[in-house]
Amino acid sequence: MAYLLALDQGTTSSRAMVFDAGGRVRGVAQAEFVQHFPAPDRVEHDAQDILRTQFDCAREALANAGIRAGEVAAIGIANQRETTVLWERASGRALAPAIVWQDRRTAAECERLRAQGWADDLRARTGLELDPYFSATKLAWLLDTLPGARARAERGELAFGTIDSWLVWHLTGGRLHLTDPGNAARTLLFNIHTLDWDPVLLERFRIPAPLLPRVVASSGVCGETDARVFGAAIPIAGIAGDQQAATIGQGCLAPGMAKNTYGTGCFLLMNTGAHAVASRNRLLTTVGWSGVGGSGVCYALEGSVFMGGAIVQWLRDGLGIVRRSDEVEALAASVADSGGVVMVPAFTGLGAPYWDANARGTLLGLTRGSGAAHIARAALEAIAAQTADLVEAMARDGAAPLCELRVDGGAAANDLLMQMQADLLGVPVLRPRLLETTAYGAACLAALGCGLWADAHEIEAGWRLDRRFEPRWGADRRGAARARWARAVTCARGWAGS
Ligand code: G3P
Repeated sequence: MAYLLALDQGTTSSRAMVFDAGGRVRGVAQAEFVQHFPAPDRVEHDAQDILRTQFDCAREALANAGIRAGEVAAIGIANQRETTVLWERASGRALAPAIVWQDRRTAAECERLRAQGWADDLRARTGLELDPYFSATKLAWLLDTLPGARARAERGELAFGTIDSWLVWHLTGGRLHLTDPGNAARTLLFNIHTLDWDPVLLERFRIPAPLLPRVVASSGVCGETDARVFGAAIPIAGIAGDQQAATIGQGCLAPGMAKNTYGTGCFLLMNTGAHAVASRNRLLTTVGWSGVGGSGVCYALEGSVFMGGAIVQWLRDGLGIVRRSDEVEALAASVADSGGVVMVPAFTGLGAPYWDANARGTLLGLTRGSGAAHIARAALEAIAAQTADLVEAMARDGAAPLCELRVDGGAAANDLLMQMQADLLGVPVLRPRLLETTAYGAACLAALGCGLWADAHEIEAGWRLDRRFEPRWGADRRGAARARWARAVTCARGWAGS
């Protein structure tokens, strides 16, 4: 029996899952790691923590499954995207903490570049917005700030990577410096039409080319692990950003199919097939994956929301109104509505479709009757409202009306939130039995990439419905809720710049 090992390196935790050749889960391990907030606009990870937790989880998942490394046919990697690591090739040591995708330290630099009129050309080449979310300005910041880094980068002594590259480097004992086009497409340095690093962008962001990883197909054997890491050399046969992997794991393989992941943020991706559809409503055009089932590049339209499940984490760690994240559903359900309280969770600015780095979190409509339960309910409503913003933007972009939404990620287990989502969208929300579709997607890429699976139909065979949430609201109620949300967003915008 051959097995697949999926590494799912997320923003707040590392997770590993072992699947058998039939796509069934055989072993799981997960470890949270420390989030560093050294300044209000900064979010960092210790790159060493990422390696330690990810590799430990992989060993633990194999042990839980009772499987030896030699029985693993292939590894698939899914990773938090955009997070930027700069390391020394000779030692494999990161020169600084990883700058996380949520980090806003380069907001002023993005404003400066915007004032020079770059945004439209950048969007045309990369499909992205000029925003601190993406890697380019983070990498430029590291090169400008770390003494000697730029000169060392030009001499070829340093390597840049998103987390996939960082993992592959260390999985292979420093032999391979790779990424896939889906991850590369999140850097602002990759041209999504030529499918290569764009020399014009490298010059504009002042990024030395020797820093960059080689771009390989998302599905296909690209190397093997150093036997010292897990005890046997294992082929690496899948690499994808976590949202792209989840799209695969949800079986959204045909153009028009969409999924929403309620992870740290919320990420809605719609498959657009071989066409890079340009958004007129500030969604992102991104590469989904390449090489899946022997086919070429598949593009996606994406709406990225920065605070999704992380809001629940803040209710727990920042506000202290729940002790555990799973308590939030009962707390929110203890009141019939939010009592007029509206939360706009712009803690790290607003992503799609607003792209306002200066928006900040707001809590509106508080009265003497407002309590923890109203705030918890408003927090869940905010997650659903942000997703509705994305769906509406996709519709305005001319996408075929969504007839259902497939959901996953930790917060998708929250029945109340899923019902709110169906009510607010007016379409059924479909939750699969396996919520870890990101890890499943990574395993699918690896299974196809190493030839264990003959074609992509195997992916859909693994998708089973857990529950379907039907919309209950009429158009009037939906319209009123959407109008109230729009007013609240207006209040949150531009706050940090005022
Ligand atoms: O773009 C950021 C995204 O990849 C992070 O995903 O699952 O860690 O919230 P997640």
